[in-house]
Amino acid sequence: MLNQINSIEEYNIAYKASIENPETFWDEIANTFVWRKKFSSVLEWNFTEPKIEWFKDGKLNITDTCIEQHANSTPEKIAIIWEPNDPNENFRTLTYLQLFTQVKKCANVLIKNGICKGDKVCIYMPMVPEAAVAMLACARIGAIHSVVFAGFSAQSLRDRINDSSCKLIITADAVYRGSKLIELKKIVDEALLQCPSIKTCLVLNHRNISTYMKSERDKFWNDEMQNVSDENEAEIMDAESPLFILYTSGSTGKPKGLLHTTAGYMVYTAYTFKNVFNYKPDEIYCCTADIGWITGHSYIIYGPLANGATTLMFEGIPTYPDHGRFWDIIDKHNVNIFYTAPTAIRSLEAFGTDILENKNLSSLRVLGTVGEPINEEAWNWYFENIGKKNCPIVDTWWQTETGGILISPIAHVTKIKPAFATLPLPGIQPVLVDENGNEIIENNVEGNLCIKFPWPGIARSIYGNHERFKSTYFSDYPNMYFTGDGSKRDEDGYYRITGRVDDIIKVSGHRIGTGEVEDAINMHDCVVESAVVGFPHEIKGQGIYAFIICNKETADAEKIKNEIKIHVSNLIGSFAKPEKIQIVTGLPKTRSGKIMRRILRKIADGEKEKFGDISTLLDPNIVEKIISEKK
Ligand code: WT7
Repeated sequence: MLNQINSIEEYNIAYKASIENPETFWDEIANTFVWRKKFSSVLEWNFTEPKIEWFKDGKLNITDTCIEQHANSTPEKIAIIWEPNDPNENFRTLTYLQLFTQVKKCANVLIKNGICKGDKVCIYMPMVPEAAVAMLACARIGAIHSVVFAGFSAQSLRDRINDSSCKLIITADAVYRGSKLIELKKIVDEALLQCPSIKTCLVLNHRNISTYMKSERDKFWNDEMQNVSDENEAEIMDAESPLFILYTSGSTGKPKGLLHTTAGYMVYTAYTFKNVFNYKPDEIYCCTADIGWITGHSYIIYGPLANGATTLMFEGIPTYPDHGRFWDIIDKHNVNIFYTAPTAIRSLEAFGTDILENKNLSSLRVLGTVGEPINEEAWNWYFENIGKKNCPIVDTWWQTETGGILISPIAHVTKIKPAFATLPLPGIQPVLVDENGNEIIENNVEGNLCIKFPWPGIARSIYGNHERFKSTYFSDYPNMYFTGDGSKRDEDGYYRITGRVDDIIKVSGHRIGTGEVEDAINMHDCVVESAVVGFPHEIKGQGIYAFIICNKETADAEKIKNEIKIHVSNLIGSFAKPEKIQIVTGLPKTRSGKIMRRILRKIADGEKEKFGDISTLLDPNIVEKIISEKK
């Protein structure tokens, strides 16, 4: 296959070429995709404004590459396998031709409902093929999709809809996750009480739950799809036209809508999918992420489809009906490439290996992980028990902002090392910087991870707030993109990501800003002030630890703690619920009123000494007090 790296020598050649002459390198790769008009320049950029433009003047529609070309050449090939939550229900498949027809129809439904090029469409859907159809239909007509993870609360959904003034929302009546029924439409109804920009709500009747339908506004997906033609001309887009907005947490303030554009994102997700997973035609690929996160966008939908791959979408959870579900799916569908999160591996590891006795798993050829650092123990367990020591693990490091994988082994090419993301992919120029902002050249070091040259998949802005984009990522270190992660680099030049160096935490791979959780907690009537930090958690990677000051005598501390947990679930989503809450009488603050989180992190971590210099605290005694109050 074109542009596929098959040996370490080829990697070295490709990497060198991509650094010495990035434009020639990406030009060649970009030419393998479907264009309506070729671009006139490969890259224009500066990291000061910042301005990043790839494949300028190129014209395309991403559905030409992701669907139409395959619908023409391999119409009967399966594009999507859908595995339902309940294994006793039938699984579904969509061929490339069927997917193409569905997408064209859905595009017509959107047009019929007044959606034009540039309009924003919110997608709040379970993991069903219709979610993929909806995203691709938006892309086909040039509408910008904003997928919101269907685990977010009504309040969070509302904030996201309003931030980008979405005109239409697509949802489903309800979904089962494990044995729990989640009534999505009810959550949407609550959100829409204060979303003036929404004119239409399309409802997929997924579970046949009777739902309230507001006249004029709410329409059933099935009815709409039945009444439109399957002929649709794709909108011709500019290379830099926005493709989607995806909200993610920052260390401060409200979640921000990262804006990704069309051509660069397509080229980068397709190239990295093919290489990182060493994808071979006719393989079955399964990624267990949710489409509400960037992994779902890039490596369930766009990257695999651009390569004409078969991508498996799983609706359920790893522990339903039992903790062998992932392994059953692999055997049932003969999955060759399996991509999941460290937290899932750790939680399944905790159940032991008995359940693996009657699983075959011999179809597997490549394993992947993403979302948070993987510890060596979990890595080894995955390698030995799931991959039977025959499947390389690609520990893929990247972010919502990066669009695609930046540092990762290339399966069957890069020599792997437990818990290391290993080497940068071609086109990626990582640097480690020290606390003074100087680049560290040597190996066997640790520093803050920056990238000093653009790659096609990098986000172009924060929707509606380019200043924030600049200050968050391009201001700490001049002329570099700052990732927010710390990393080690060993004697082989291999990277080992150590985790966030800011106030973002990863709980079961979910990205949560501590400030967001504090804002939610502070809205509770009994709370005066709070400080939230992450603490190491055996399964989840990190858990949320909240220190709170209450405004009245807390006779019933347990009651307040429970209320706060429910309150955070209602405001953000249950994944953001604090695991531990400690009621305190004061917080460690400097004389200028800044909370010293470093100290709180250590207390949450169980450390009793080694707090460093605490003499700048307004009241140094508070540290001892908090420790003694800890249960
Ligand atoms: C943060 C980005 C990448 C898509 C899903 C998460 C952490 C991600 C790894 C990895 C160590 C990792 C980083 C990063 N992270 N992958 N392989 N090893 N850490 O995207 O929600 O935007 O989170 O996830 O801390 O900054 P995201």
